Amino acid sequence: MPSSDIKILAIESSCDETSAAVAVNGKILNNIIATQSVHENYGGVVPELASRAHQQNIVPVVDQSLKNAAISKDELSAIAFTRGPGLMGALLVGTSFAKSMALALDIPLIEVNHMQAHILAHFIDDPKPSFPFLCLTVSGGHTQIVLVEDYLKMKVVGETQDDAVGEAFDKSAKMLGLGYPGGPMVDKLAQQGNPDRFKFPETEMPGLSYSFSGIKTGVLYFLRDELKKNEHFIKENMNDLCASIQKTLVQMLLQKLRKAAKQYNIKEIAVAGGVSANSGLRSSLKELAEKENWKVYIPAFEYCTDNAGMIAMAAHYKYLQKEFVDQSVSALPRMKF
Ligand code: KG4
Ligand code: ZN
Repeated sequence: MPSSDIKILAIESSCDETSAAVAVNGKILNNIIATQSVHENYGGVVPELASRAHQQNIVPVVDQSLKNAAISKDELSAIAFTRGPGLMGALLVGTSFAKSMALALDIPLIEVNHMQAHILAHFIDDPKPSFPFLCLTVSGGHTQIVLVEDYLKMKVVGETQDDAVGEAFDKSAKMLGLGYPGGPMVDKLAQQGNPDRFKFPETEMPGLSYSFSGIKTGVLYFLRDELKKNEHFIKENMNDLCASIQKTLVQMLLQKLRKAAKQYNIKEIAVAGGVSANSGLRSSLKELAEKENWKVYIPAFEYCTDNAGMIAMAAHYKYLQKEFVDQSVSALPRMKF
């Protein structure tokens, strides 16, 4: 490859996945992900354990990514890393590693906003959305509607004021006695259930804001009351409970997305983040898209959940703009964009 090629190594360590990826001229050559299973025993991500696991995983994951891309460190044009948002101890591992590597190789360092990267994951494969588009980013930590005007020009137009939708899935699953993360389990069981069997209160929020903490409490009180009458209530109604909770959450997501699409008069709609795997969300979105004449884009699952491929993609656009940072940069757990 000629030396003018842009070769970027990207590192992601914001939560519980240690990941490294190599991009050459904006093409993602690989996306190595080490998932931390240690958290399963605790019913949620334990920050201290996440940080320790990142420290153990980062060297082998980066080595594997470079080896897989058949690229030596000396050929790299830049090192990119997730600066935030995320868990401080987890972010620090990737940030320090990237800084040391860039310093040792004397090449530029690129900071990436994790939420911006979730959106830019749409440019890894075809078909790609055209600007301007709206992106619904739904994960365990975030629920946002973002107006995307260009690769690096985006603004949050709506977001949750409390829990993320993935959290609402996971906490509901926990109350039903399902494992962690519960979202995929709720999705699976919901497919056998009746979504109209139970009604849960949807919190009305102004504008394009979301709130998912009310439904969590609603489910809790509902289950508590029903279990008093019948101790086997959950077991006997599991599928219908999952289907009804899922329907409520999906309805809440799509109602605001529809409002945003009308408000901004946009028909290019993208979805990103782990919850975009949800089959109920996908089918309701498809129905709504037909009605509203939307074009909908969802990246391959490997690029929906946390991964360094999306960090590399975002870094490529930043490299083109020469948006580099120096060694004084530090992790930003509450990073905004
Ligand atoms: O984006 P992600 O992998 O990690 C971050 O939180 O950044 O998202 C994880 C979230 C978890 O809450 C998980 O339960 C949820 O995505 N999730 C799902 C499904 N697959 C993953 N929620 C509902 N249905 C699914 N099929
Ligand atoms: Zn994420």
